Amino acid sequence: MGGTGTGRRGPSRRHLLLGGAAAGLGAAGMVGAGALLGGPAPQAPGGGPEPHGAETVPFHGEHQAGVETPPQAFASFLAFDLGRGTDAEAVRRLLRLLTDDASRLTRGEGALADSEPELAAAPARLTVTFGFGPGLVERVAPDEAPEWLRPLPRFTEDRLRDEWSGGDLLLQVCADDPLAVAHAARMLTKDTRAFAGLRWVQDGFRNTRGAVPEGTTMRNLMGQVDGTVNPAPGTEDFRRLVWGGESGSGGNGGRQTRGDGGDRGGGDGGSRTGEGGESDGDGGRGNGKGGAGGPEWMRGGTGLVLRRIAMDLDSWDRLDRTGREAAVGRRLSDGAPLTGRAEHDEPDFKALDPLGFPAIAEYAHIRRARSDDPAERFFRRAYNYDRSGPGGQDAGLLFAAYQHDPVRQFVPVQRRLDELDLLNEWVTAIGSAVFAVPPGCPEDGFIGEPLFRK
Ligand code: HEM
Repeated sequence: MGGTGTGRRGPSRRHLLLGGAAAGLGAAGMVGAGALLGGPAPQAPGGGPEPHGAETVPFHGEHQAGVETPPQAFASFLAFDLGRGTDAEAVRRLLRLLTDDASRLTRGEGALADSEPELAAAPARLTVTFGFGPGLVERVAPDEAPEWLRPLPRFTEDRLRDEWSGGDLLLQVCADDPLAVAHAARMLTKDTRAFAGLRWVQDGFRNTRGAVPEGTTMRNLMGQVDGTVNPAPGTEDFRRLVWGGESGSGGNGGRQTRGDGGDRGGGDGGSRTGEGGESDGDGGRGNGKGGAGGPEWMRGGTGLVLRRIAMDLDSWDRLDRTGREAAVGRRLSDGAPLTGRAEHDEPDFKALDPLGFPAIAEYAHIRRARSDDPAERFFRRAYNYDRSGPGGQDAGLLFAAYQHDPVRQFVPVQRRLDELDLLNEWVTAIGSAVFAVPPGCPEDGFIGEPLFRK
């Protein structure tokens, strides 16, 4: 098992990767983000900004990296189906192998049988996040599946395709460099060959590092600022909603972060404003197995809902700007609510326009997506995709939402959007998958190990 040093060697060259945005992240959010490798840093031949390819995010820890990690520029989501002969013992061997190679690659070392270790030398904040589909848990310990680990209910607006849905094992590979993502994805796929077949691969992107200031909320391909209202990494709110941490410790378990930017986390993790007032927490509303939201082996883990949502950009382009802004309830220029001046201003859902109609329409996405129940929230960490070509347009959003109980947190929101959301005119879910993202592992362990102790 590889696993010494998650790298704070070479402190003289260590620099924070988040700039000012890092200041808002608590210890959990920062789990080692930003360490540099000990080896020689790549030099920019013609000057220019200092390369950041050597930056690493520690693989080991309480939680898996790649959730609270400020989103990297590139992502590849790979889903595998276990082979018929892959029994629990074989799954264990596979997870050991994958854990070992993922930890090497994220450190900037080649995989164990890497024929091109040079391609691993600039990991650029590479993270590999494992997710278990219902099929994997069924194979290893059927009684241990969280109750929510099943396909989402059918929604009227969905047009799901098998080719983008389901899967027994997910590897979410993210980095600030597409070469690092491609190499890691290939090495890890090689590891799976004797055990599983590739079911689908979904690649996504955000702005390249350096193109916009660190901490800028991302834009999706419809041009909207997307990710403004989100639980802030490093906060108690995030811990409770995403990791299923016990709420109420110290009496502040239910407090919401405010959307004035003053206590914002990093990346695009803008604060959720306290519309619903103080949360009462939902720490007691798990499925009765192992505390909040799941069985014991999932403690420190989370649930991932991944939806591939296609956008009809050509017809969106034909809508005038006012119509496009009304559909969401926010301005395209800066993401401010139609009732506010700045991105993080709290929307005023009661305000009327001069004609007496709601300033943020009843059908607006942000009105429909917001729940009166403060527990019906989750962390969005989406990526754009675009595979348009001679065959036509194929673009949209890889909508990745993390929460400790998707049935309790995600489904009610999706249900409301399914009933009414003007955005439905231009967006359609064509893929859907739910994964249990187990907790992180220590250096001498492997991802998912507690599942085998049952
Ligand atoms: C391609 C599809 C989608 C697009 C283009 C989209 C776009 C947006 C935009 C522009 C915002 C406002 C800025 C922000 O706070 O992030 C927003 C907010 C939000 N969206 Fe979406 N979204 C999509 C799908 C979804 C889905 C499937 C869900 C969940 C089922 C969802 C849940 C939310 C939530 C919870 C908010 C914050 C609402 C609030 O202000 O409280 N979105 N979305």
